[in-house]
Amino acid sequence: MNINRRDKVRIETTLDGSVTLYLPDIDEHYHSVNGAMQESMHVYINAGLKECKKKCINILEVGFGTGLNAYLSLLYSKENGKKIDYTAIELFPLAEEIIHKLNYASPETFSGELFERLHTSCWNVKEHITPWFDLSKFGYDFTDLNFSFDNTFDVLYFDAFAPDKQPAMWTQDIFDFLHGITAENGILTTYCAKGSVRRMLMSSGYSVQRLPGPPGKREILQAKRK
Ligand SMILES: C[S@@+](CC[C@H](N)C(=O)[O-])C[C@H]1O[C@@H](n2cnc3c(N)ncnc32)[C@H](O)[C@@H]1O
Repeated sequence: MNINRRDKVRIETTLDGSVTLYLPDIDEHYHSVNGAMQESMHVYINAGLKECKKKCINILEVGFGTGLNAYLSLLYSKENGKKIDYTAIELFPLAEEIIHKLNYASPETFSGELFERLHTSCWNVKEHITPWFDLSKFGYDFTDLNFSFDNTFDVLYFDAFAPDKQPAMWTQDIFDFLHGITAENGILTTYCAKGSVRRMLMSSGYSVQRLPGPPGKREILQAKRK
């Protein structure tokens, strides 16, 4: 399996009308086929970001991909008067022609420009996207775990490909590292509710809850640093 191949990536429309990407080489989608936008809202915004009551929030996303989670967080920051400092890790940035086919932004609110800025902003530096939202994208291989951050994170979106497709992203070392950079009372959320993942999160020191999943998925995981 070669997860590095983006040349054969396909755009597919999911059941809520929003698109996702499909990688035939590993037979894996970027989001739920039952609704990409719906899943991102449910797992990352509702079970993660909304739970954080701070005014200034540091977010870490593992797997920036289409930028959907970053975009929904950006909209949330303005609507709720929160200042978000968003850090995203992505080893395989998408080609421009793919980004232009993503239909997450709404033309009525001119948010297409903002969505595009998330992708055109420079890598490895902090960029001011709106008065409410700063973005730092890093082109790291997250499995290396040999980087350090200036701050800890209040909310962590763990959005790697599924454990059976990319087991190197779902190890005890990865979760120990994430726990070490989670702020006190910080929250990590992921769409994956596998028992082995839940046990690794618990063994890292998180207190873990299974929550009801979005349509098509029974459960998701929400992990809190005690
Ligand atoms: C399930 S997709 C989700 C992407 C994104 N959150 C979205 O909503 O589009 C997983 C993402 O992790 C990225 N990825 C895979 N291996 C990685 C690695 N070793 N380090 C950093 N990112 C990686 C993939 O390129 C892909 O963008």
